[in-house]
Amino acid sequence: MKLIAIFLLAYLLGSIPSGVWVGKLFFNKDLREFGSKSSGTTNTFRVLGRQAGTAVLIMDILKGTLATCLPMIFGLNINPLWVGLAAILGHTFPIFANFKGGKAVATSAGMLLGFSPLFFIWSSSIFIITLMITSMVSLTSMISAVLITLSTIILPFVWPTILPEFNLSLTLFAFGITIFIFMRHRENIKRIKAGTENRVPFGLNKRQ
Ligand code: G3P
Repeated sequence: MKLIAIFLLAYLLGSIPSGVWVGKLFFNKDLREFGSKSSGTTNTFRVLGRQAGTAVLIMDILKGTLATCLPMIFGLNINPLWVGLAAILGHTFPIFANFKGGKAVATSAGMLLGFSPLFFIWSSSIFIITLMITSMVSLTSMISAVLITLSTIILPFVWPTILPEFNLSLTLFAFGITIFIFMRHRENIKRIKAGTENRVPFGLNKRQ
């Protein structure tokens, strides 16, 4: 019973459509009608600006973190990554926003933060460096997901301070989420191939 309640709570947490609510509440705009039409962090930055984007980024990350910490909070002996996954599913298919949500990136980052703050810092560094090179958040999200999955295998051997031991479930979750992130970026992949993908105004390949 407690187990079902925790999964449900994690899904509902993930379902909080921060971008949609911030847009409607403070800008009288439905994010899903502008830009990439996604309700995630990147589109919030694009459509509603830096302040709203930062707020939504923090909220979307925290949804994943809080969900991943639920087993610890309620003293339940279950792999926290499963609970984090429920929040990621809530974020992408939110019950409070017609099941049309984001692309799983920020909430997955939140899950990593709940799992290990050091590994989260490592993963965020990969993301920032890749973004500075590509200037495309979508491409960065996909490349980072692959690199983070590889990190879960390599780091325990080369830099155990960041990830002390190989954790098969972490690697499998990272791999599964990577595939999911690629699936959620289908439209972006088409635009990247066509050379029409949105770019950010900074980095080596920035928007002109
Ligand atoms: O986190 C989502 C990002 O990778 C792409 O977002 O709005 O450019 O499709 P968007």
